[in-house]
Amino acid sequence: MKNTDEILMNTVISTALKAGDILRTGFRQRFEVEQKSAHDLITEYDTTVQQFIVEQLSKAFPGAGFVAEEEHFSTKGDPLLVIDPLDGTNNFAMGIPQFCVSIGVFTGDRQPKAGVVYNPVLEELYHAQVGKGAYLNGEPIHVTQEPLKDTLIATALPFKFRDKVDWITQLLLHVYPEVMDIRRLGSAALDICYTAAGIFGLYFEYGINAWDTAAGVCLLREAGGVALDFSGQPYDPFTSKSIVVGPSAHVERVLHLWRESGVQLEG
Ligand code: IPD
Ligand code: CA
Ligand code: CA
Repeated sequence: MKNTDEILMNTVISTALKAGDILRTGFRQRFEVEQKSAHDLITEYDTTVQQFIVEQLSKAFPGAGFVAEEEHFSTKGDPLLVIDPLDGTNNFAMGIPQFCVSIGVFTGDRQPKAGVVYNPVLEELYHAQVGKGAYLNGEPIHVTQEPLKDTLIATALPFKFRDKVDWITQLLLHVYPEVMDIRRLGSAALDICYTAAGIFGLYFEYGINAWDTAAGVCLLREAGGVALDFSGQPYDPFTSKSIVVGPSAHVERVLHLWRESGVQLEG
């Protein structure tokens, strides 16, 4: 007989796969796009897919609570499901095939107990449960063992917080001499999954939300990595504004470089 954790995991996975199918069908077709804020778009798929996920999961788990990006907050409930129906909206809207569905699962704790991230274009399904490892399409994944200098790292300019761009650029310039090169792919959830899978040696960003990170952080930790904020405290999806993830040695090295530089560090 399947236990409740397995049922929860399987239901979240099958919902993410179906949600991803909806995104794949709509990708590069004609759809409605609106300006959400100054540099941020919203498409009809953000809302349709979120509605689909919330409907499916509330049917399966009537006691569930939801924190979802497109106007759905009821932080009470067990499990608490933290959903980004479309992470990488600007990519999706512009026809760039780098986006995903992200669902983090909390069960009465501030840290995620499980996470599922699905990239429907590459058909890559990442999933993890605390204590059970992290997987890409069923195969175990681990953070890189390469030295930082031999890795690509990922980051983003804080495009929604333009007053922070100079500051983040400063932080980036302190790291740049120590890495192979830098990528800005446009989906925080995938950046974290790629770090969990050892594709990136590190990822950091300012201005992220729980729905961008919850699932990825569970994956990352289960893949042997650490998730901290810029002040070196454990990353808290609900309160931290900044995140830096990777193998512990890489994260510690980067935090050390920043502290040495004297640049101000916000959690
Ligand atoms: C955004 C993407 C982007 C990151 C932003 C997120 P959205 O999410 O993950 O890569 O830089 O911080 O808000 O708006 O596409 O769901
Ligand atoms: Ca997002
Ligand atoms: Ca989104």
